[in-house]
Amino acid sequence: MKNNIIRLAKELGFAIPQMNVNGLIWIEGVLKAAENQQSPIIIGTTDKNIEYLGGYEFILNTIKNKVQAMKITVPVIVHLDHGLSVENCKAAVDAGYDSVMFDGSQLPIEENIKQTKKVVEYAQLHDVLVEGEVGAVGGEEDGLIGQVKYADIDECVALVKEAKLDTLAPALGSVHGKYQGEPNLGFEEMTIIRNQVDIALVLHGASGISNNDIQRAIKLGHAKINFNTEINISWSKQLRDTLDENKELFNPQKILKPSIQAIELTAEKIIKMCGSNHQSKTLFKKNGDEKLWS
Ligand code: 13P
Repeated sequence: MKNNIIRLAKELGFAIPQMNVNGLIWIEGVLKAAENQQSPIIIGTTDKNIEYLGGYEFILNTIKNKVQAMKITVPVIVHLDHGLSVENCKAAVDAGYDSVMFDGSQLPIEENIKQTKKVVEYAQLHDVLVEGEVGAVGGEEDGLIGQVKYADIDECVALVKEAKLDTLAPALGSVHGKYQGEPNLGFEEMTIIRNQVDIALVLHGASGISNNDIQRAIKLGHAKINFNTEINISWSKQLRDTLDENKELFNPQKILKPSIQAIELTAEKIIKMCGSNHQSKTLFKKNGDEKLWS
């Protein structure tokens, strides 16, 4: 059985960033940043985007092939973000994903537990990590729109215990996409949850959250922090600037390269905020001889 790399990060006091990818140039930019910073990295593909990304197997193999081609030495975990059904999570496991999230947050808790359990039972057979969610992260992500609903503490404890989760995403005021006003995270609830469940917590909707709040969340047990919007904002801004600066430009590489660099720079900033820079070696060392994702 492989070691839970996110639990190791929690023990070491930092978070592994999850960065969602929207195609090849995101994969390149994020991997380059992780290697430059010697940081473990979680590459997220959100289930809503899977068809656009070419299917579970295609995108998984594309990421793994890129890891090889770029001679990446840091651990790279490929994760299914917001798995929409038990079947979809199983399909991602079959394709070879390292980690899947089953998002049963819209279901009544009993049903969330029942379905998450099914995912965990299947994933464990294949050495795949499972993340569950309680409450609802608000905002908009790839067409999925939702209101914030704070996670109920008893429900968090029940889901973790009964489904035997590896990581838990308790929604505590963060939103996907751009924040309207200042983010307002529920640190009191976070403290209670941290004291009641001993697995690593996951923070969704981290784009736009201040460095201070990210550090507090890490201290309160978050060892996986998810980013998507911030990377897409810097990518699209650079793309617009490049095209505006030279209206005659049509060479794809000249247009795209600066935007890949923008992804890389933002990814490096995120890595430093999560404190995962230069932690790749430390993780391998802490892990000893056990099997670890790479
Ligand atoms: P952001 O939209 O804040 O980047 O959050 C991404 C996320 O949580 C993916 O699950």
